[in-house]
Amino acid sequence: MATAGKVIKCRAAVAWGPNRPLVMEEIEVAPPEAHEIRIKIFVTAVCHTDLYFLYERGRGEGFPAVLGHEGAGTVESVGPGVTRFKPGDTVVPLFVSQCRECRFCRNPSTNQCDKSWSSQRPGKRLEVSSDTTSRLRCRGQTLLQYMGTSTFSEYTVVKEIAAAKIPDSAPLDKACLLGCGVTTGYGAAVNTAKVEPGSTCAVFGLGAVGLAAVMGCKAAGASRIFAVDVNKDKFQKAKLFGATDFVNPKDHDKPVSQVLAEMTNGGVDFALECVGNVEVMRSALESCVKGWGVSVLTGYNDSQDVSARCLQFLAGRTLKGSLFGGYKSVESVPKLVSDVMTGKLQLDEFVTKTLPLDQINEAFDLMTNSEGIRTVLKVSTL
Ligand code: APR
Ligand code: ZN
Ligand code: ZN
Repeated sequence: MATAGKVIKCRAAVAWGPNRPLVMEEIEVAPPEAHEIRIKIFVTAVCHTDLYFLYERGRGEGFPAVLGHEGAGTVESVGPGVTRFKPGDTVVPLFVSQCRECRFCRNPSTNQCDKSWSSQRPGKRLEVSSDTTSRLRCRGQTLLQYMGTSTFSEYTVVKEIAAAKIPDSAPLDKACLLGCGVTTGYGAAVNTAKVEPGSTCAVFGLGAVGLAAVMGCKAAGASRIFAVDVNKDKFQKAKLFGATDFVNPKDHDKPVSQVLAEMTNGGVDFALECVGNVEVMRSALESCVKGWGVSVLTGYNDSQDVSARCLQFLAGRTLKGSLFGGYKSVESVPKLVSDVMTGKLQLDEFVTKTLPLDQINEAFDLMTNSEGIRTVLKVSTL
């Protein structure tokens, strides 16, 4: 490639600071260093975690940055020592890596690779890479790489262990959703909660993560799936994905956990939190039946603590967390893409709007207002 080894100037949506819209800028993307690949991004979706980082977290550190972690594109060039990729390969960047060597990668029960950007972050700055590991610059400043991926850019650089190779014929506008939302929700149900056939489930929050969780509960054979959201417009889609009962907490003058307990003779077997709200996390736990109820939280919130009465646990309930649906990333995303291509996983209903990258702030507004499910942004052309 004519661009290999050179700095690429391209367009990106830059987050200069918290609570401010993103700004389209010309940025410089340095060539990949050892064991890194530079990717031309074709499409990216916007996830609630991007919105959280920019508008809800209420803290100033971690900027300027390029956000975005649900992308798909092709490898433009590879750095020294890269063996798994070559220019032209179609890839999904991953915010959880899989090095296949660390003690966590070698343990079949977890996907928490120790070489993920998040394990190596400096000073516990949770969401962004360090200055030295970012390859992006703008106006003389380093742009931190959000979640190690930075897909809101025509080009980005990621570690070789943080990308999944997928078939060239994969539908990229769907495959990008496997970079976070769909994988997170679906896996939370099938891998982390381990939803059982005939069980009762409740899914709190019906964005992409929650709808994918509903889909996972259905695939695992749940007999009743309660879809819980404060926005009733989300219920129709949830029904399409297999939800059987619908609860809007706003329609009740008692806690939603009590409403669910009354509808299920004591509580659900599995409850999945897909909002990122600590009150909802508590509510999900309290909605589980005593004795064996399992609650899984997928939502992200690093500003507030989750609280619960210890009797909830003494009574036999379990609270678990699920990152990236518990999937070992590099090996699992290609399998999920294959499920999309064979029709086993239907992702069409997740994409409710397509916009050019330039209109990214509109995608953030839609998510803030809980309108639609996922906006897919066209970043560049094939
Ligand atoms: N109770 C129930 N549902 C709620 C509540 C509440 N108190 N507050 C918000 N919701 C609903 C919204 O109406 C919306 O439908 O939660 C849904 C959240 O959807 P999105 O904003 O589209 O978020 P999504 O991208 O699906 O991510 C959800 O999962 O992975 C995490 O970090 C991610 O924290 C985020 C969460
Ligand atoms: Zn590892
Ligand atoms: Zn996400």
